[in-house]
Amino acid sequence: MTMRVLGIETSCDETGVALFDTEQGLLSDALHSQVAMHAEYGGVVPELASRDHTRRLLPLIQRVLDEAGIRRQGLDAIAYTAGPGLVGALMVGASTAHGMARALDLPVLGVHHMEGHLLAPMLEDNPPAFPFVALLVSGGHTQLVEVSGIGQYRLLGESVDDAAGEAFDKAAKMLDLDYPGGPAVARLAAAGDPQRWRFPRPMTDRPGLDFSFSGLKTHTLTTIRQLDQQDALDEQARADVARAFEEAVADTLAIKCRRALDATGLSRLVVAGGVSANQRLRERLERETAKRGAEVFYPRGRFCTDNGAMIAYAGAQRLLAGERDVIGRMQAVPRWP
Ligand code: KG4
Ligand code: ZN
Repeated sequence: MTMRVLGIETSCDETGVALFDTEQGLLSDALHSQVAMHAEYGGVVPELASRDHTRRLLPLIQRVLDEAGIRRQGLDAIAYTAGPGLVGALMVGASTAHGMARALDLPVLGVHHMEGHLLAPMLEDNPPAFPFVALLVSGGHTQLVEVSGIGQYRLLGESVDDAAGEAFDKAAKMLDLDYPGGPAVARLAAAGDPQRWRFPRPMTDRPGLDFSFSGLKTHTLTTIRQLDQQDALDEQARADVARAFEEAVADTLAIKCRRALDATGLSRLVVAGGVSANQRLRERLERETAKRGAEVFYPRGRFCTDNGAMIAYAGAQRLLAGERDVIGRMQAVPRWP
């Protein structure tokens, strides 16, 4: 029996909604990004994020239903991001999902945001088969996970300090680039000379699958300050710093991915989360996996960052497995391991 699941994502600064059909796949998806609104402040302002989700969510849900030509009565379940994320922002999605579920008498499912990212590549035409190793690289997380099936996740390693996306965002601030930092650093790095500096590849000199980006952050800041003091922080120098930083992050992530594939004996790698949009990282991972006859999978560009489709998909898999929330007992879990 086909099941149609509405997915709602409001954990941070994107309002995402999508409709997933267990037989036909993704029927429609829509996104409203708050990036322009937060850019003025140089980062996400939580209170503004919640208010904007409140304003955008219902019209987006309507749009997704209209585009798929489906009425509310045609839904079989509602999935929402239950965490981790900004608590006020999460509450908007959680309360809307539970309200709709109660009104329509439907099952409702709270999804872990990172499970959404992890499963996003399953929405593609050539999805990875289980088991695989997943590298999750977002603004809040850097994790390596062994994935044996839906809900069967073993954490292999994670960042002991900053997440990879957070490191990009901080490097962007040091370079006076606009929020969101990752794409801005990548754009600047394109004109940079990769030979000028070699920035540290943290925690690659010892075994283990954990990450640390704070040392690289300090190294980047020190380099920028020195250039500034020497009055040498021109456009080319900034691009060179961005390039050295990006190369160091991509190389570090690739080294750990290779180790994770070795440690598990697996030959499929899934890369998801905002930083998976990074072209340099992709090239580096392609080379790394090609060398060993492994394959790498990504979500399409717009499903690398936060979106409703990944939540609809993860919710549908949980629904098929017989799971659901107790209606009215909504979850908004800001920190959720
Ligand atoms: O997954 P995501 O949209 O939101 C979270 O769940 O955090 O990831 C956002 C992060 C931000 O830190 C952003 O700077 C980074 O992903 N990002 C990138 C790129 N696009 C987004 N980092 C490097 N290169 C990119 N092209
Ligand atoms: Zn995310």
